[in-house]
Amino acid sequence: MEKSRKKFTDILDKAVATANTMQCDELLFSYKGILYPATFCSLEVFRAMESFEARSDDIILAGYPKSGTNWVGQILSDLVAIFEKKMKNKESSVNDDELEEFPYFEIGDARKYERMNKLPSPRLMFTHLLPEILPTSVFKNKAKILLLIRNPKDVATSFYHFSNAISPFPSYDTWDDFFAAFMTKKMPWGCYFEYLSAWNKYAAAENVMVLSYEELKENPVQGVKNIADFFGICLTEKELQSVVERSSFQSMKKNSQKTHGALGNVFFRKGGVSDWKNLFSEDQNEKMDKAFDKHIRGTKLGTKLKYEIYCKV
Ligand code: A3P
Repeated sequence: MEKSRKKFTDILDKAVATANTMQCDELLFSYKGILYPATFCSLEVFRAMESFEARSDDIILAGYPKSGTNWVGQILSDLVAIFEKKMKNKESSVNDDELEEFPYFEIGDARKYERMNKLPSPRLMFTHLLPEILPTSVFKNKAKILLLIRNPKDVATSFYHFSNAISPFPSYDTWDDFFAAFMTKKMPWGCYFEYLSAWNKYAAAENVMVLSYEELKENPVQGVKNIADFFGICLTEKELQSVVERSSFQSMKKNSQKTHGALGNVFFRKGGVSDWKNLFSEDQNEKMDKAFDKHIRGTKLGTKLKYEIYCKV
């Protein structure tokens, strides 16, 4: 396994091992009214975060948990690698393993941001955070943000299976219990509808590109092209094909032991659209449709989600 991936899987494994020794009610903590998993995030890290100085050429992938962040993260990592190879001779550059940070912005130790301030551009980071929790320099300095959204019914379905498969997240006896928690703001990283509403305020900014899981699934070649264009990365036809192939669900699942260790199968479950139809009752459909209407319908993100296509029976 590459050394840098080993750092990533070590953090995951450590979080799982720690969570195995904890009581269910210790798994989450609250910061500014939002819950976070205590084995991944901490108050010290949140406090240290403001010292991070964003740059206009930073590449930030923002997405609520289970929106496909590992998928689009793979695409962005490959695009950045292609860009760097073209821009400079990376082989003779500094030792990448030493520079590697856990890719999620809010996960790590409190010194992380000091180290990141010294990293060369372009820096790539992923985040599940609400925009108002991110350091103010992200918006002031116009870091480039790829905002990934997914239809809320599949997000809930994916989050349910994930929560029950990984010990750092509270597990649920039944889907009905999970659904009630999802709809009443008890999820780590907050309520998805509030997340969409909050990010919608930034959706039209020039430094933000909005991408939906479903559009990428429908046409991955066009999706990768659009992402590369947004970040100003030129691709040959061969490079484009290789990024698309390496990020296909089949390739990522096959490679998942290497990239995500023992949790590979948990991160790469079904990778499709409409699995919610296997779980949602009529009443739950109605409740979520109403919440969508109340919070998101008619907004830029709401339109982008194509709710009528992906979330109606
Ligand atoms: P499912 O649980 O519906 O299968 P995240 O990476 O944000 O945790 O999101 C996880 C979801 O993205 C999971 O959804 C996972 O299977 C899906 N996913 C991961 N890689 C994918 C890929 N290459 N193509 C499509 N979906 C992918």
